[in-house]
Amino acid sequence: MSSDTDVLILGSGIAGLSAAIRAADTGLRVRIITKADTFDDSNTAWAQGGIVGPARNDDATTLSKDILGAGGALCYGKAVNQLAVEGPPLVDQFLVGECGVEFAHAPDGSPDLAQEGAHSRRRIYHWKDKSGWAIHKGLFETAQAMDQIEMSTGHMAIDIITVCHHSTDTKDRYRKDRAIGAYVLDIATGEVNPVLAPVTVLATGGVGQVFRHTSNPDVATGDGIAMAYRAGLSIINAEFVQFHPTSLFHRDFPNFLISEAVRGEGAILINRSGESFMKRYHPELQDLAPRDEVSRAIYQETESRGESHVYLDATKLHDVDPSDRFPWIFETCMEAGIDMRKDPIPVVPAAHYFCGGVKADLQGRTDLPGLYAVGETACTGVHGANRLASVSLLEGLYTGVECGSRLSKAIVPIKERYRTSIPDWVSPEEEADPAHIHNDLSNVQGLMWNYVGISRTERRLQRALSDLDYLNHRIDRFYREARPSRSLIEMRNAVVTASLIAQAAQTNRVSMGCHYLSG
Ligand code: SIN
Repeated sequence: MSSDTDVLILGSGIAGLSAAIRAADTGLRVRIITKADTFDDSNTAWAQGGIVGPARNDDATTLSKDILGAGGALCYGKAVNQLAVEGPPLVDQFLVGECGVEFAHAPDGSPDLAQEGAHSRRRIYHWKDKSGWAIHKGLFETAQAMDQIEMSTGHMAIDIITVCHHSTDTKDRYRKDRAIGAYVLDIATGEVNPVLAPVTVLATGGVGQVFRHTSNPDVATGDGIAMAYRAGLSIINAEFVQFHPTSLFHRDFPNFLISEAVRGEGAILINRSGESFMKRYHPELQDLAPRDEVSRAIYQETESRGESHVYLDATKLHDVDPSDRFPWIFETCMEAGIDMRKDPIPVVPAAHYFCGGVKADLQGRTDLPGLYAVGETACTGVHGANRLASVSLLEGLYTGVECGSRLSKAIVPIKERYRTSIPDWVSPEEEADPAHIHNDLSNVQGLMWNYVGISRTERRLQRALSDLDYLNHRIDRFYREARPSRSLIEMRNAVVTASLIAQAAQTNRVSMGCHYLSG
């Protein structure tokens, strides 16, 4: 039987696009789908900081040490070393050389390398504060020009199709399981169809939207995590959610990040009374203390003062014109009525990066044949208990390239009989009530923020688990009784992902990295 495509890729960030380009290079037919209206609605395109690339005074041993320094004993040393050796050269060879990605240059023409917290070397390739956008543009334009790649927006996978789970031929339940595609919703028409493929790649990004405050775009609802979990895969290290200290606190710009680089250029955090409070929390490093310590300090400051946010005072940057160095941040603040040259910026910590994920190796292989996971959706052991800034885009690039290059050897043709034994999707007639969806998602986000957020306690986690248990049942029933829509599926995935994070947080009784227990 001919499959609908050789490779079905769910998601269009750095990992999904890199995998698609490399798979198409080997002659495979690739279909990329994204649930968003545009391909640039991803954590990749939103990334401000940059990506670790090759630097003259750097080497793989030093980079490995820095990654291990952030992630601690939970890192998988073998994966860290492999990424540190083979990852950075890809920035030059693949992103710049093959995909034409533009990074900022110093006056002598060499890459302008930025410094970031906990990196012992200047090694970050960037494009001002729109580094992710520059990377996305190069990858997207390359993928779009390839005949082998078909790309669709407005399409969302609901579940991975596996032989044991979905085939109506009862003998299939005794075979070794394998993924053979996904049920895909056409969001505009509401139709759901099976898309059959010998290889399916989960590249669906992060989970930030399960928390009330996040720097992630709306798409980051943990879809790949929930689908993989329902397909029987292990989700590991789920308690490790990295919180970024500074996202803009403004109702019209709820997910906008104010890059750490702004503090790197001299901005300081102040409370409502104008006090530079980081001196009290980390006298040595103050505003440039590690990301999780700054997030906890802001959390404590706002809790103890009964306030909703603090401020970032960027009015006295060292020799930097913010409109030139941080054009995106500058313009967004202006749109929000804040002139960062004169006014302090209201900020709040926000869920930023998921260090856990679907257990996978650096080629994206999971425990289910036919199913791969790359980028933020996957957990390869590189980040351990805490991620070093700008290593995640490198990991997304490397796992995407590794995965895509090797897929042609992994293709097992789909058996003819699955075309009839995989059932069509049957949808209930009734539309989901948007008020339910809004309310339930907002409940999940609120309880995750308050009970499973920056500072966790046994009691808070217990409360979160019992509330999530109740919501899981309600939402599952609601999902089964209504016609699928993007928001309904997202809510179903968000509550599953939230529960996995809360369960992992309750199981791990030791504070480490970005999992912090205060009681
Ligand atoms: C930032 O620009 O502050 C975020 C960088 C990162 O998370 O890698």
